[in-house]
Amino acid sequence: MGTPMNTTPRPKEMGRRSFFAGLLGVGAAGVGLLLSIPVLRYALFPLTTRMRQRSWSALGPVNQYTSPATAPVRKTVTFSQQDGWRQLVSAQSVYVTHSNEGKVEVLSAICPHLGCTVSWQPGHDRFVCPCHGSEFDADGKRIAGPSPRNMDKLPVRVDNGQLEVEFEYFRPNVPNQELMS
Ligand code: FES
Repeated sequence: MGTPMNTTPRPKEMGRRSFFAGLLGVGAAGVGLLLSIPVLRYALFPLTTRMRQRSWSALGPVNQYTSPATAPVRKTVTFSQQDGWRQLVSAQSVYVTHSNEGKVEVLSAICPHLGCTVSWQPGHDRFVCPCHGSEFDADGKRIAGPSPRNMDKLPVRVDNGQLEVEFEYFRPNVPNQELMS
């Protein structure tokens, strides 16, 4: 009868095995971390991206609006919004008008009260909201009604003689013009 073989690893061999096992564990964790980056970026994308990229809409040559005697001119602008993974294209009405100093300005036609569309009434020389009767002068300043603020002014720029506007949404029924995200 032979002597049974001793299969217990010797201490030196055990040290080498656990070293390689540790190395494998660290490598696997590193690969897992690298693989998780795109997944995390995909999952967090809607949280880390602005709802809407800046988008300028053309309103035509600026010199057609430069006479302060011109009544507010209604225009429709189209713009795109990023909503999570979706790209939305919307259209809204704006009015090109003048400040009291004669500067060209663009007003949102969305009533700051509860969001109906105001329209310019040439006979009365004012903007009127059909929903609850808010009224504004040609400069967008509130004259009457429940609107808590003036009409909202939009960012404008002139590029190569062309007037452009960036449409934005503002919080309704609050006293100050607060941008919605
Ligand atoms: S929504 Fe315009 S006055 Fe109420």
